[in-house]
Amino acid sequence: MLNRRKALVTGAALAAMPRVALAKSAPLRIKPQAGMARLGPPDVPKTAIWGYDGQVPGPEIRVKQGDEVRATLDNGLKQPTTIHWHGIRIENAMDGVAALTQDPVEPGATFDYRFTAPDAGTFWYHPHNRTWEQMARGLYGPLIIEEAEPPAYDRDITLMLDDWRLGEDGRIDEESFGSMRDWSHAGRLGNWPTVNGAPQPDYPVKRNERLRLRIINCANASVQVLRLDGMDARVVAYDGMPVEPLALDGTFILAPAQRVDLIADVTADEGALMIAGRENFRACGFKVGGEARGKPLTDPVALPPNPLSTDLDLKEAVRTTLTVGGGAMGGMADARIGGFGAAYRGEDPVAGVFDARTLAVEHDLVWALNGVAGMPLEPLFKAERGQTAVVRLINEGRWPHAMHFHGHHFREVTEGSPWRDTILLGPRETKEVAFIADNPGRWMLHCHMLEHQAGGMGTWFEVG
Ligand code: C2O
Ligand code: CU
Repeated sequence: MLNRRKALVTGAALAAMPRVALAKSAPLRIKPQAGMARLGPPDVPKTAIWGYDGQVPGPEIRVKQGDEVRATLDNGLKQPTTIHWHGIRIENAMDGVAALTQDPVEPGATFDYRFTAPDAGTFWYHPHNRTWEQMARGLYGPLIIEEAEPPAYDRDITLMLDDWRLGEDGRIDEESFGSMRDWSHAGRLGNWPTVNGAPQPDYPVKRNERLRLRIINCANASVQVLRLDGMDARVVAYDGMPVEPLALDGTFILAPAQRVDLIADVTADEGALMIAGRENFRACGFKVGGEARGKPLTDPVALPPNPLSTDLDLKEAVRTTLTVGGGAMGGMADARIGGFGAAYRGEDPVAGVFDARTLAVEHDLVWALNGVAGMPLEPLFKAERGQTAVVRLINEGRWPHAMHFHGHHFREVTEGSPWRDTILLGPRETKEVAFIADNPGRWMLHCHMLEHQAGGMGTWFEVG
């Protein structure tokens, strides 16, 4: 295995900005396929990856709020796949969830996605079929929806954080795909971090330049603990939803799939850094050259609001409890098998209640939600269109989870909590979240630690 400490001494060339793919009117073609990427240090060979258009990250898709995105998925993989537009409050049929909202797209086949993004902000796209393998191999890309009138800033930098598991030869460790040890513990944690598919890239900036940093955690399962040095930064959005600007003080946390938008003034004379994790690891650098202005800008940094309905009606809400069970040392109580996948494949769902060992050994299921392992036949709850939904998330185990709701943004039912699409639920923690179920369809709700999802942590709800 590559040792991440190696990265502490690696110098890196100035990073090229990712390619922007969108022409507004022409439909995009996005081809997931095999490719090569220089992920590791210079003395390690390139890595065979799967990427959109063969690159990691995939091409940046960038449109203005309210524009239509048309994208044809052209499957160049040897596996069926889909594209899920993470965090977009999208029309259900375009959500890209294999088996729930569409059939998986077979190798060589295509699928046309077409949607209008209602919200401006930082989003991303990734597969929703065998996600745990396809994302670990490099399938993800940024989806940036621009505000009509953003606050003033000089430079817009998207930073997609990943955490790979590579061998000394630079190859992706394939033997550990499907490892039940990973699935029942913290998920597939990597040994090799990258930002925008590069080890410790450096971005050119100027002193007193104002940056908009869009940081996205694309790792399968790693919770990222980050810090910025040499900048004066304010949080302006979480998961694509603007917040009252908040000065960044010390570290901040991004669970898998979460995003943060920062507006940051470069204060350092030489280099500024983004530091990751307990080891104070250098995730990426910002090389200061020249001066943008004599002193930092003082213009306001707040983003304009998105058209999200925020008027929760807790009295008339549909209320559900979702209890996470399972995982190593979690003592998963007996559970049923969801049966959604079997029914989709035209097989008979496996009936009965099983003990944890049987579920793990015979069915690769190590997690359960409300005593059901894997997607259930029936939705967790049904809401009338426009009704408020309240979900009490209870984690009785020892592992954190990154709970993600599709098609909606929610917030914790405590004053001042931000609207998000993914929330970190710590060990033995309970959080109550609420949202307005105003987007009709069948929506997935799952842990974004992808091995947990594959190991049973997925369910769905229906909005009428
Ligand atoms: Cu980012 Cu269900 O996904
Ligand atoms: Cu989880």
